[in-house]
Amino acid sequence: MMTTAPMTDDQGSKKGLEIVRTVADLRQVVSSWHKDGLSVGLVPTMGALHAGHLALIEQSVNAMDRTVATLFVNPKQFGPNEDLDTYPRDEDGDRDKLSVAGTDLLFAPSADEMYARGNSTGVSVAGLGDILEGEFRPGFFDGVATVVAKLLIQAGADTAYFGEKDYQQLLVIRRLARDLDIPTVIEGVAIVRADDGLALSSRNAYLSDEERRIAPALHQTLLGAAEKAGAGEDVAGIEAWAHTQLLDAGFTSVDYLTVRDAETLEAYGALGKDRPARVLAAAKLGSTRLIDNIPAE
Ligand code: PAF
Repeated sequence: MMTTAPMTDDQGSKKGLEIVRTVADLRQVVSSWHKDGLSVGLVPTMGALHAGHLALIEQSVNAMDRTVATLFVNPKQFGPNEDLDTYPRDEDGDRDKLSVAGTDLLFAPSADEMYARGNSTGVSVAGLGDILEGEFRPGFFDGVATVVAKLLIQAGADTAYFGEKDYQQLLVIRRLARDLDIPTVIEGVAIVRADDGLALSSRNAYLSDEERRIAPALHQTLLGAAEKAGAGEDVAGIEAWAHTQLLDAGFTSVDYLTVRDAETLEAYGALGKDRPARVLAAAKLGSTRLIDNIPAE
């Protein structure tokens, strides 16, 4: 059951943030909004909200009549040696931030609500989900695609918002929505950066002071790589230069820094050099893995 009163008064004006924890309640609220002719935006999150998430909420609040945020730390997208147990969790703090940002509804299900016992169906985006992040985090995109497909189907929102910080994830989600005929429009939202260029991420909380000082080198290296790509330098040379830059700056290891076709993430140039390109990177600072990307103009 919903934890509080309905979300509109008799005149249909907005009330504060309400919380539901079951799919049935989520569906009931969204369908009542749709019956009233209201548009609905969806912002899926794993919580530990920062200004990057709030930019997604802001975009939805500005464009749609009602905004639903979801908070679910999805176990299916964490590998066996990843940070599921220590992933930052702060539901009370998240609720306050969502409320101030004008969110209408928070869907915060339990793992049992999301994954019925004996569940055995998953969504896998072949090809696009197997490269780059998919190569370094096996199973990650299967977990993301499965939970996002479920959230899109559960909410039935008109538009869903995802950050460009997880650029490959955004492309995977666009592909799955298209392939599964999920009618929700998928909107990408620009990366929010700290003043020194570091892309905001919940995992930045893991960085020590010294690592936090080094971290902006990732964005600086992406900028250098984009400039080189724009000047027509070959991708292998750019990759070699960028790896050296990052290791010299103090990064522990580099999973990839590469230039790819911005729509397919295939090798840049394979489909013609007149197409948009994206520079994408993943690198480790101590035990924290950072990812970032920018367009290559
Ligand atoms: O980007 C995230 O926070 C997650 O991957 C998402 C899209 C909420 C799915 O769990």
